[in-house]
Amino acid sequence: MQRIRPISGAWLACYAELLLALDATDRRLRFGAPATDAAVRAHVAALTARGAMVLAMFRDGALAGAVELAPDGTAVELAIVVAPPARRRGIAWRLLRAALAVARGSEARVQILAENRAMRRLAVRGGFVLRPSGAEMLGVRPLERRIGGNSLAAA
Ligand SMILES: CC(C)(COP(=O)(O)OP(=O)(O)OC[C@H]1O[C@@H](n2cnc3c(N)ncnc32)[C@H](O)[C@@H]1OP(=O)(O)O)[C@@H](O)C(=O)NCCC(=O)NCCS
Repeated sequence: MQRIRPISGAWLACYAELLLALDATDRRLRFGAPATDAAVRAHVAALTARGAMVLAMFRDGALAGAVELAPDGTAVELAIVVAPPARRRGIAWRLLRAALAVARGSEARVQILAENRAMRRLAVRGGFVLRPSGAEMLGVRPLERRIGGNSLAAA
């Protein structure tokens, strides 16, 4: 059984473990730059104080992936990770749709390393407009953007 829900408290420690288990390449893709274990722990520890929300996907009781929604002025910045064994099953897409449903009413943004083909495909499918910025693509999803003609409010 799969379901998505916000996590806090002890589950954030599980989320940190998911991030710490990523190899160096995936960590760089996730954070946009190499990240030490200490930096990953500090990032997760600061989420609540920053007013960020984490939506997690559970498969058979285990955390299979998560999306962060971090306030950035009037916009919401999204960042997704899926555990390697759970990839290519549409989990990131479901997390993205869930995050956009929560963030409706705000502009959504995403920063993607240019080489990150999977995340670029997801962002475009999700209605983000991508523009290059150095080694990254900055994605912005304006408020009125819809997927396939359907409002995300119905996602
Ligand atoms: C990017 C990531 C979240 C995708 O997770 P996922 O659950 O495998 O993604 P999905 O199964 O929902 O697939 C999403 C799309 O990406 C495509 N895709 C997935 N992995 C891919 C890969 N390695 N290369 C190219 N395309 C890929 C899928 O085909 C799908 O596109 P389509 O439906 O148009 O064919 C996952 O690979 C990951 O955690 N990577 C490391 C962290 C990261 O890069 N996070 C993004 C930070 S902005």
